[in-house]
Amino acid sequence: MIYSEKVMDHFANPRNVGEIENADGIGEIGNEKCGDIMKMYLKIDGGIITDVKFKTFGCGAAVATSSMATELIKGATIEDALKLTNKAVVEALDGLPAAKLHCSVLAEQAIKAALWDYYSRQGIDPLPIVGELHEHCEECSIG
Ligand code: FES
Repeated sequence: MIYSEKVMDHFANPRNVGEIENADGIGEIGNEKCGDIMKMYLKIDGGIITDVKFKTFGCGAAVATSSMATELIKGATIEDALKLTNKAVVEALDGLPAAKLHCSVLAEQAIKAALWDYYSRQGIDPLPIVGELHEHCEECSIG
C-alpha cells in the first residue's frame, strides 16, 4: 500500500486536532466498516466556519483525511462546507489506496453531523439543509 507525501504529512502532523470549548456544532460519526469513530467541533459566526477541530479514534488515513478536510473548510461558508465531498478531500491529498477510501467518509460525514447539530440547537430542521447523513462511502460502494 503506497501513500502520497501529502497523506504522510497530514498523518504525521495533523492539523486542527483537539476540541473546541463552547462549539456551535458537534458531530460524531462511526464507520460501519471498521468501527472507527470521528468527532468534529465547529465554531460558526455569521454563516462562516471560523474554527474547526477534530478528534478521532481512527486509522492513519482517517487522521490524514480529517486533517485535510478541516483545512479545506476553515474560513469557508457553511454552504461550501456542505459541498465538500470525501472525493475532493482525497484528491487534495493526491489520492488514497482504494482499500482506504472508506476512511475518508468519516470526515465528510462528521462535518455534516456537526452542522446538523448546529441547526438543531437553533430549532431549525437540518434535513432540508444538510441532507441525510450516510456512514457509507458512495464513491467506493462500501458500507
Ligand atoms: Fe477505520 Fe480507516 S480503517 S477509518
